[in-house]
Amino acid sequence: MDMGLTGRVAVVTGASKGIGLAVVRTLLDEGARVVAVSRKPGAELDALAGPNLVHVPADLMDPDAPARAVEQAVEAFGRLDVLVNNAGGPPPGAVMPRFGFMTLADDDWRDVFEFNVVAVVRAVRAAIPHLLKSDAASVVNVSSVNARRPGPMNFDYNAAKAALTNLTKGLSEEYAPQGVRVNTVSPGPVRTPWWTDEGGAADIIAGATGSDRDAVLDGGAAEMMSLTTGRLSEPQEVADVVVLLASPRSASTTGADFAVDSGFLKEV
Ligand SMILES: NC(=O)c1ccc[n+]([C@@H]2O[C@H](COP(=O)([O-])OP(=O)(O)OC[C@H]3O[C@@H](n4cnc5c(N)ncnc54)[C@H](OP(=O)(O)O)[C@@H]3O)[C@@H](O)[C@H]2O)c1
Repeated sequence: MDMGLTGRVAVVTGASKGIGLAVVRTLLDEGARVVAVSRKPGAELDALAGPNLVHVPADLMDPDAPARAVEQAVEAFGRLDVLVNNAGGPPPGAVMPRFGFMTLADDDWRDVFEFNVVAVVRAVRAAIPHLLKSDAASVVNVSSVNARRPGPMNFDYNAAKAALTNLTKGLSEEYAPQGVRVNTVSPGPVRTPWWTDEGGAADIIAGATGSDRDAVLDGGAAEMMSLTTGRLSEPQEVADVVVLLASPRSASTTGADFAVDSGFLKEV
């Protein structure tokens, strides 16, 4: 299937690892030109270097960073068609999961909302004037199944992702009539460095359950979370849905929330 992305220009945040890296790789494969945002490029993004890829080193906790990334995309490639707000999760210095409501201080809440919501607001604000000039504009926000399924872990993160999903729907109402589609992809647990890194989610869950990292990754987490497929999702499986929503092949899809969650959500 031709995704119609050849020559299109995309900004992808959180682009050096995990889901974001898979999105960048897939967009490049589809012939798009990509501006990849992360604090550091990393070896896997470096390996994709070429005329269609620009890396913007930026910390999205910096209020000016989203606009800078958008400006660099327009400067480098002359236009903007796609914005993928993928960066999110634990803000710098935090690790997740975090258990219990009372463990979270005001600063934790502020940082999580700054990274997962306010940085997206800033990116969309900077991108809109350029997206309005595109004949196939798409914003894809990477949310989480926890936007719809709260629980006694990561209260701040779950609430921030709920805000992001809500924001997405609102944006789609304002901008779809002007040709800018806005959707969310909501992953369940995905085997990314957030889970697999030393001290990452798998290690934290292993510590809390008396298990070990490999056991958590290779079945423990799936069992704990009642994943119907019996396994975590792979970053590419999320990226494929992100890229489909970025593509003009999804021209009638806006304000939608696509779960890629191994069957985590049970509600109809
Ligand atoms: N993995 C999951 O199980 C899961 C589940 C549900 C939703 N999600 C969502 O999926 C998205 C991607 O998650 P992931 O698991 O792929 O993450 P990841 O593997 O931890 O990768 C995070 C990416 O974001 C970049 N990043 C981190 N902090 C940044 C900052 N302050 N400024 C700019 N870039 C920053 C990282 O690069 P640098 O460190 O170099 O900056 C890296 O490229 C997030 O929105 C997350 O909430 C993930």
